[in-house]
Amino acid sequence: MKRRTIHPARQLTGGVEPPGDKSISHRYAMIAALAEGASELRHFAAAADCHSTLECMKALGAEVKLDKDTVRIIGRGLRGLKGSRRALDAGNSGTTMRLLAGILAGQEFMSQLTGDSSLQNRPMNRVVGPLRQMGADIRARDDNFAPLEIRGGRLHAIDFKMPMASAQVKSAVLLAGLFAEGETIVTEPARTRDHTELALEEFGARIEKSGKTIRIQGLAAGNGGAKLHGRSLDVPGDLSSAVFFIAAASLFPDSNLLIRNIGLNPTRTAILDVFASMGASLQMLSVRSAHGEIVGDLAVKGASLKGGVIEGEQIPLVIDELPMLAALGPYTEQGIEIRDAAELRVKESDRIAALAENLRRMGATVEERPDGLRVEGRQGGRLRGAEIEPHGDHRIAMAFAVAALGASGATVIRDAGCAAVSYPTFYEDLERLAE
Ligand code: S3P
Repeated sequence: MKRRTIHPARQLTGGVEPPGDKSISHRYAMIAALAEGASELRHFAAAADCHSTLECMKALGAEVKLDKDTVRIIGRGLRGLKGSRRALDAGNSGTTMRLLAGILAGQEFMSQLTGDSSLQNRPMNRVVGPLRQMGADIRARDDNFAPLEIRGGRLHAIDFKMPMASAQVKSAVLLAGLFAEGETIVTEPARTRDHTELALEEFGARIEKSGKTIRIQGLAAGNGGAKLHGRSLDVPGDLSSAVFFIAAASLFPDSNLLIRNIGLNPTRTAILDVFASMGASLQMLSVRSAHGEIVGDLAVKGASLKGGVIEGEQIPLVIDELPMLAALGPYTEQGIEIRDAAELRVKESDRIAALAENLRRMGATVEERPDGLRVEGRQGGRLRGAEIEPHGDHRIAMAFAVAALGASGATVIRDAGCAAVSYPTFYEDLERLAE
């Protein structure tokens, strides 16, 4: 899909169930491939990123069958994966590359791991460093970028104090820890999403959490003989995708929206607190637990949003939702200011630059800073439809499709198909709800 035209709307009404959570789907698929026996993963993410993970696990010898949004995986056990002759292709997915690097570090064969041009320009030294400390031999272009060449083998446990708050780095070390001799300890500087910990526990790993420290016992080196077992699991809907609808509904006083079956893991819901503190009308309904994760429905009504500052320890907890928040900035009273978020510059695109560029295309006033941006408020009436350049970044494309609903005149999203990286039917769902 090349270009998509978005027309202004008056309200969002009805119900929607976003696809399965991307972060959880990656983890379930990888761990299922390392487990003994069959796993069934229902409501698996439709995201292209998670399909990259499935292809990689297949290339490593797991049996993977996809039937609509149910994935069946026959795992090969901790020592059962086989080397792939071809390079493993993570596509656009940082999570695939970084988490898989942790698993490959523990394998006795050599692997090559590559990705698209965006992924080949994202930093990998954050995982390469600790995995080398554990004993893996890893080569990277300029010692930092994909393609990566990983010669795994016997790993030893480390006590790793993470220099940055990143769930991907934490997860890479914990997954490598499965293959290490002894107990691997990881301490985070600030909390990040804990889906890896929950998923490992669910499949039978020996893992303990206490505050910001996580300990995992190596299983493959014969420590106690524990194994991972295949599981039958339901993936909750993706809150990071639901956020586009929360934002869109909030724009219009007459909106009335029900978002069903959404993951509400407390390490992901900081974005709901941000919306609530800005005055959004949100109600959680039917909250229930599912294999360690929490799931519920969200009722959203229109509201007038105050805006505000997002900074510090909040940033890693809302990192994927910052594009949507920034693009809402002009519609808020005080505007939106994002600080301490230099990490946004090394996501699927330089998100700070892409946000500033496209907000300006719509007529908003923006100050771009090295670690964030400030978007002036009370400009909703002045925003006009524009041609948006997402720079191949799914979350930029979707954020501006939402911002376009409140502008005057039509907006064209170039290269709109990049939304499929996380949400292939996003525009259809948005159009169905917008009146
Ligand atoms: C993710 C972690 C975050 C997030 C990414 C998904 C994960 O990245 O931005 O979209 O599934 O672990 P970092 O770990 O780099 O912050």
